[in-house]
Amino acid sequence: MNQSSLLKKYLMALTGIVLVGFVLVHMAGNLQVLIGREAINAYAYALQNLPAPILWGSRLFLLVCVLVHAVTAYQLIKENRMARPRANEIEVTKRAGWASLRMGLTGSLMLAFIVFHLLHFTIRAIFPEYNDMKTTVGSPDGSEIHDVYSMILAGFQVDAISIFYVICMFLLCRHLAHGVSSMFQTLGFRSERWRGKLDLAAFAYGWIIFAGFSIIPVLVIAQKYGLVNCLETCGSSCSVNL
Ligand code: HEM
Repeated sequence: MNQSSLLKKYLMALTGIVLVGFVLVHMAGNLQVLIGREAINAYAYALQNLPAPILWGSRLFLLVCVLVHAVTAYQLIKENRMARPRANEIEVTKRAGWASLRMGLTGSLMLAFIVFHLLHFTIRAIFPEYNDMKTTVGSPDGSEIHDVYSMILAGFQVDAISIFYVICMFLLCRHLAHGVSSMFQTLGFRSERWRGKLDLAAFAYGWIIFAGFSIIPVLVIAQKYGLVNCLETCGSSCSVNL
């Protein structure tokens, strides 16, 4: 592998670490839905009201990491395709080519998912009525704040959206399991001795992320169809009837 490709592999691994960390923190934050309206609303309010340089600095940093990760992946896949294998390397190259193609596919679908997700819950352009969901529950000073709890409940009451999210979480799980183990490989941790344990950790991480994110749409749908009753329903403070 030439030096420029090696540098690209490092860039992918480093931006990958940031994204792996973000996904874990975001999942842990979201799980506060299971604690209740007050917990998730107070958490979302605190995040939204971080000092502007910190909030916008981290958003920009995250965006740069996503873009660098995606563009570098695209360049590496292209280089991979152009490199002509020697006869005895054909099998290995074929396997590596298939893995990077699959990563390219799940990665591109993740990019599309992130665009949809931002339009859905952050910019709220798909359902602008989410902007009208206000409550004082979780507010630090009793003033009205955005009711993120009701928005998530309303968002996942649409069957097709919940199914779409769970499918995307499965693709994310597959992308992460392979991505984290190739990150260990690039950073030189995946020695003969550690390979099995690190691959298991990457596999477990992927499934933890799948379960942690999917549990919310799954519970909302289960409650909608009367199978469970563990989520608070929308209170009188919510302007949209759930
Ligand atoms: C069931 C799964 C998920 C739920 C319920 C969820 C929930 C949310 C909510 C409610 C927001 C907006 C917070 C607010 O405006 O106060 C948000 C923002 C965001 N989510 Fe998710 N999310 C999920 C999965 C994901 C995944 C898998 C990713 C990345 C791969 C992701 C990336 C983001 C990003 C980048 C933002 C914008 C953060 C910002 O405002 O700076 N989310 N999510």
